[in-house]
Amino acid sequence: GPGRIVLGIETSCDETGAGLVRLEPDGSMRLLADSVASSVEQHARFGGVVPEIASRAHLEAMEPTVRRALDEAGLSLSDVDAVAVTAGPGLAGALMVGVSAAKAYAAALNVPLYGVNHLLGHVAVDVLEHGPLPPRCLAMLVSGGHTQLLSVSGIAGEVTEIGSTIDDAAGEAYDKVARILELPYPGGPPIDRMAREGDPNAIAFPRGLTGPRDAKFDFSFSGLKTAVARWVEQTREAGMQLPIADIAASFQEAVADVLTRKAVLAAAELGLDTMVLSGGVAANSRISALAKERCSEAGITLRVPRPRLCTDNGAMIAAVGAHVMATELDPSPLGISAVPGLPV
Ligand code: KG4
Ligand code: ZN
Repeated sequence: GPGRIVLGIETSCDETGAGLVRLEPDGSMRLLADSVASSVEQHARFGGVVPEIASRAHLEAMEPTVRRALDEAGLSLSDVDAVAVTAGPGLAGALMVGVSAAKAYAAALNVPLYGVNHLLGHVAVDVLEHGPLPPRCLAMLVSGGHTQLLSVSGIAGEVTEIGSTIDDAAGEAYDKVARILELPYPGGPPIDRMAREGDPNAIAFPRGLTGPRDAKFDFSFSGLKTAVARWVEQTREAGMQLPIADIAASFQEAVADVLTRKAVLAAAELGLDTMVLSGGVAANSRISALAKERCSEAGITLRVPRPRLCTDNGAMIAAVGAHVMATELDPSPLGISAVPGLPV
């Protein structure tokens, strides 16, 4: 039929994603299905993702997840015109399961295979929701594994890293602080919820790397985490009740302040008038609200995919695949392998 169907497969961390995107004859893209199976509950008692558990979970979830995506779209495997898969960055074993599965699908269906960059997927996914992106934009990726400011020239084009975290990722900071506060893993959602009841100015937690001699566009969250841990310890030692909501709100304000301040500054300096905010942490209510406020003041158009598309999924990988197909770049050889440390 008209339009070409791309199956996207994502297994870089703890989410097994299978998504289907149709590249229309006019070059636009349509999201047809987005199926995700998560092993997050199996990692919860360890307080972080355990690579071996993630790999096994991907292996078990792969076929049913692809099947669910096809069912959701009312399609069958023979309708698939190309397969796109996350080649990296991510966990080596986890990536390998996805890449192997994608090769098998591409070989069996005799269709092209595209190995894609996970980080670009987080940006490209917004096209499915808000239409084409301008030729150049700034992306702020904030997740459990990444905290990066990227200058993006076309989804299938160039990506330059403007800045990144020098220690913990933003999501990691949420997860570690949640652990200190004895809140469940992953820590982002419970802290976000608790923070609504608290005072963001109750405790003056440090804003990492905001001094005059610090790297302008890099981030640091480990000092913030340590400051929270110390504050909690001292309060406990003094025999006082922990004001969990105030701690959550003050911690969240420190993260939101630094992230949005640096992102807006980077966009302004690079002359970029569009910003895409994506990754699991983009779902945070305060970070997205403050980004909106500061972007609007600076005359920057902010684009935030809906939360379901901000977290890892297969549709974002299919979106990059469809872009590459649209630009008629060569597909990846079937011999491609997972690249855990794939650079941007
Ligand atoms: O993008 P993602 O699903 O996976 C990767 O890490 O690639 O991001 C997961 C991270 C976790 O650290 C989780 O705590 C965080 O996103 N997160 C949040 C929120 N929802 C999820 N952080 C802050 N606020 C939230 N509402
Ligand atoms: Zn991700």
